[in-house]
Amino acid sequence: MSFRIQPAAPARPNRCQLFGPGSRPAIFEKMATSAADVINIDLEDSVAPSDKDSARANVITALNDMDWGTKYLSVRINGLDTPWWYRDVVDLLEKGGERLNQIMIPKVGCAEDVYAVDALVTAIERATGRKTPITFEVIIESAAGIAHVEAIAASSPRLQAMSLGAADFAASMGMQTTGIGGTQANYYMLHEGAKYWSDPWHWAQTAIVAACRTHGILPVDGPYGDFSDDEGFRAQARRSATLGMVGKWAIHPKQVALANEIFTPSDEAVAEAREILAAMEAAKARGEGATVYKGRLVDIASIKQAEVIVRQSEMIAR
Ligand code: COA
Ligand code: MG
Repeated sequence: MSFRIQPAAPARPNRCQLFGPGSRPAIFEKMATSAADVINIDLEDSVAPSDKDSARANVITALNDMDWGTKYLSVRINGLDTPWWYRDVVDLLEKGGERLNQIMIPKVGCAEDVYAVDALVTAIERATGRKTPITFEVIIESAAGIAHVEAIAASSPRLQAMSLGAADFAASMGMQTTGIGGTQANYYMLHEGAKYWSDPWHWAQTAIVAACRTHGILPVDGPYGDFSDDEGFRAQARRSATLGMVGKWAIHPKQVALANEIFTPSDEAVAEAREILAAMEAAKARGEGATVYKGRLVDIASIKQAEVIVRQSEMIAR
């Protein structure tokens, strides 16, 4: 380990973030009673420009009047290049009461984007005497966002989570696809006439995970657009979990169970992690730093790997 210790990410489950448009209050109750850990009510791209004011009003009413249970409650504001975002922040904080946990800032391109929202939020919190500070999550969904991802991860003590937004990211990068996440037909290697598909989101995901882990932030995979394709969702989510991401968005309620399934460590994985920890305890008692578990090497690094899985499982159980 470097002299600088890697900070822990917030210890709260973030396996699934369920989205719904702020202009569709009829589904708020269904969102609140879903099995998602995090609820994201949207004021941005799922709300038409003509509905921005009414959607904001709907959200404020729902923040004040609805029972959101134990959900971690987040609202996605409009981007900093729009005329709407400052009013989103001001009204949510001045009129939305204390229930809101988090503001999601979309299309973040540089650390100063977060700084600007932080300054506004801080001033309103002081003016209103708000007791619990608002946290932030950001979406990396542009060329600038991924180019500046490390500075963005370090931008504010309010920042708790960072998602990859595949659709806007693909557009900003000029990628030739209209798919939102998942396998892309033209992204393959050819070997002896056979196609082997590769993962065009891999680099961006890994860059996000590295930036997040450096600064103690939760890395999250964004939307999987084809909500009729459960196996495609599972495959994308499994890759993300393998890379270190802690959860994924649901853009339709049927994706919530899929995300919870993949991002909850399985009983088998937890049992194996505990066996590795036990094997290493036994090795330590013998004065050894490395040993053999099921025919493969385990050593002191394996303890840390196993602990990631056990910690995740214990946190979810709590
Ligand atoms: N959260 C909770 N419940 C939802 C929901 C959501 N996001 N979307 C739909 N439902 C409900 C519907 O009301 C319906 O309920 P019912 O069975 O009681 O009538 C049920 O789930 C099935 O809905 P379905 O008919 O399959 O979907 P739809 O056509 O009503 O809506 C979408 C489909 C994709 C438009 C909708 O899910 C949606 O708006 N998703 C979020 C989009 C978003 O926020 N995008 C921004 C982030 S990328
Ligand atoms: Mg987007």
